[in-house]
Amino acid sequence: MYATFIFPRLMDWLLRGERFQTERRQLLASAQGVVLEIGFGTGLNLPHYPPTVTALHTVEPATLLPDRVARRVANAPFPVHVRQQSAEILPYAGGMFDCAVSTFTLCTIPDPCAALREVRRVLKPEGRFLFLEHGRSDDLSIARWQDRLNPLQRVVACGCNLNRRIDQLVVQAGLRLEHLDRYALPGVPRIGGEMYRGSACANGPA
Ligand SMILES: C[S@@+](CC[C@H](N)C(=O)[O-])C[C@H]1O[C@@H](n2cnc3c(N)ncnc32)[C@H](O)[C@@H]1O
Repeated sequence: MYATFIFPRLMDWLLRGERFQTERRQLLASAQGVVLEIGFGTGLNLPHYPPTVTALHTVEPATLLPDRVARRVANAPFPVHVRQQSAEILPYAGGMFDCAVSTFTLCTIPDPCAALREVRRVLKPEGRFLFLEHGRSDDLSIARWQDRLNPLQRVVACGCNLNRRIDQLVVQAGLRLEHLDRYALPGVPRIGGEMYRGSACANGPA
């Protein structure tokens, strides 16, 4: 009941706040060509893709507010191909995408490293992975609180983890980190607002 009806509405409301929209627009400004988005959620990135995007393929395992998502997809100025699917095994040929995107999703995917290895596989060699995620703090006292509160967060936020080191996951998956911004999201408690925004290239170390 909570996961199906309440949480998706709460998530959609929280993540479409003005500050989040600014963050999304900033990240997606460099998206181009054929794009893959993992953990599509309720489609909140759609209005922020620039005109350089020609098509979007999305994977999302959950059924979240389907009418709302359908309306957002119908308003997109490019074709959107939606699949109900987890990101750990992607149903695409290797080297198919110019760009891949993850926003507020690597915290929740059960095996983020497997998903990122798949992202690397389906990107063209010169393709870019753009990410905007919250994760583990560099401040030890905050990180300790993130560890303490993580079991509760996983229940309340349907599998979301507070304490993942997003940059390390990206590198472990064989992507080459090109750019990383670390900052605290204003107005959000530090345990959930420690941000990792960046880009990585598919042609990283083997
Ligand atoms: C906090 S929501 C973020 C949604 C969206 N990316 C956004 O920015 O609004 C996390 C999303 O990750 C999705 N997710 C969970 N497990 C996943 C998996 N194995 N593969 C892909 N997405 C997954 C959830 O269903 C949910 O839609």
